[in-house]
Amino acid sequence: MDPDQASYWNDIYRRKAEAELSWHEDDPAGSLKLIALAGIGPDSAVIDIGGGTSRLAGALTGRGFTDVTVLDLSAVAIGAARDRLEAQGAQAVHWIAADVTRWMPARRYGLWHDRAVLHFLVEAAARAAYLDRLERALAPDGHALIATFAPDGPDRCSGLPVLRYGPGDLARMLGPGYRLLAERRYLHRTPWGSPQPFQYSLFRRAAPQDGEN
Ligand SMILES: C[S@@+](CC[C@H](N)C(=O)[O-])C[C@H]1O[C@@H](n2cnc3c(N)ncnc32)[C@H](O)[C@@H]1O
Repeated sequence: MDPDQASYWNDIYRRKAEAELSWHEDDPAGSLKLIALAGIGPDSAVIDIGGGTSRLAGALTGRGFTDVTVLDLSAVAIGAARDRLEAQGAQAVHWIAADVTRWMPARRYGLWHDRAVLHFLVEAAARAAYLDRLERALAPDGHALIATFAPDGPDRCSGLPVLRYGPGDLARMLGPGYRLLAERRYLHRTPWGSPQPFQYSLFRRAAPQDGEN
């Protein structure tokens, strides 16, 4: 874990209430719609990359999902999310404090979910490391749902520069090993009402063609 980046995010989560986090949403509706479209069953293992204090893990366990993992660079975010979910009686959530670009997955997941994490990886080496972890962690027939700022979205988030992705950009980045199933534009409103255009892309890992590894 990069200690500087971890302390940057820990500091944000220590200083700010949820209503002060630009990305906060009470209802992760954009993600849930595409997860429903993917047709993933509640016995599917899900990992929320950079899940922070998102409501997604709780929404999934509330829908009967039994194997949900939240990974985040910030141990402070993980602690807050875990305390909230445990107080609600949710038990099926696993927690990993790690930098996704340095993490070594120990198992595979049926769904890789990332809302607003990949877009912070402005360096090619970090994106390559992210794609390597996706490759290692996703089951052969698994789905990946990746949400980033759209081309007309902000060029910074939480004080950090971000890359914005348009239609087709993520499909080109992921390459032929992933089939694009759906792409949606989604207008997020920050808790103080500012519009932030996102794109959500849903992929299914493609089976290798004959002659490929
Ligand atoms: C903009 S927030 C989004 C949080 C959550 N996905 C949501 O939609 O509410 C970005 C999150 O990614 C985490 N993060 C940033 N860089 C990361 C990295 N390299 N590896 C893992 N998590 C990271 C931050 O700690 C933060 O919780």
